[in-house]
Amino acid sequence: MIRFDILTLFPEIIEGMVSSSILKRAIEKGLIEINIIDFREYAGNKHSTVDDYAYGGGAGMLIRVDPIYRALNTIEGLSSAHKILTSPSGNVWSQKKAEEFSKLNHIVIVCGHYEGIDARVLNYIDEEVSIGDYVLTGGEIPAGVIIDSVSRLVSGVIADDSTVNESFSMGLLEYPQYTRPQEFDGYKVPDILLSGHHANIKKWQRYEALKKTYIMRPELLDQIELSKDDLKMLEEIKLEVNK
Ligand code: ADE
Repeated sequence: MIRFDILTLFPEIIEGMVSSSILKRAIEKGLIEINIIDFREYAGNKHSTVDDYAYGGGAGMLIRVDPIYRALNTIEGLSSAHKILTSPSGNVWSQKKAEEFSKLNHIVIVCGHYEGIDARVLNYIDEEVSIGDYVLTGGEIPAGVIIDSVSRLVSGVIADDSTVNESFSMGLLEYPQYTRPQEFDGYKVPDILLSGHHANIKKWQRYEALKKTYIMRPELLDQIELSKDDLKMLEEIKLEVNK
């Protein structure tokens, strides 16, 4: 069971993202809990404003630290939670980080905002997380990415075997998969998959995963341990691809 507390100015975005069938079912089954906190409620002023001008000038307004501080302190068990801020300057998200986070019990996500946030917020969080080298208008989509990629790794959320062979979990991109019809618009399902020969199919899938990775993300091959068989297949792949 993982509990997420999400601090945001746009609760409806988070609500929309976590009402997908799989996450919704996970919540109903009690495998994850998602608590959304609209920190505008902690603005502490009549007009519920949470931003102000930046000291030193510069374009735009910044989110103040005090509403976030007050909202954080309403969270039960805050001190033992892993508290993150979404930000393009953070540690880059990856399947490895999703796996680490899936072992936690309590994750607090402060959604940053496009014009920035008072840097003193960093005193109250453990880690800044970026979902990639591009800039979004707010931290809600990154929060959704984190919630989704972590939740699906929680036991019982999806069939356990569907996370074993997938891209990145074994360090390789996924081999191609096919369903009916056997032929569509002249494109056929590879014969080997119809052969019923389990060992050969497994070998083919490994070959195809290595090939896909070699073509699309060759740098990933340097980050995993390859067996003798893998290396032999890679030689074949290089000949096939570079001919
Ligand atoms: N906020 C804006 N851009 C972001 C990104 N790439 N990752 C996380 N938070 C962000």
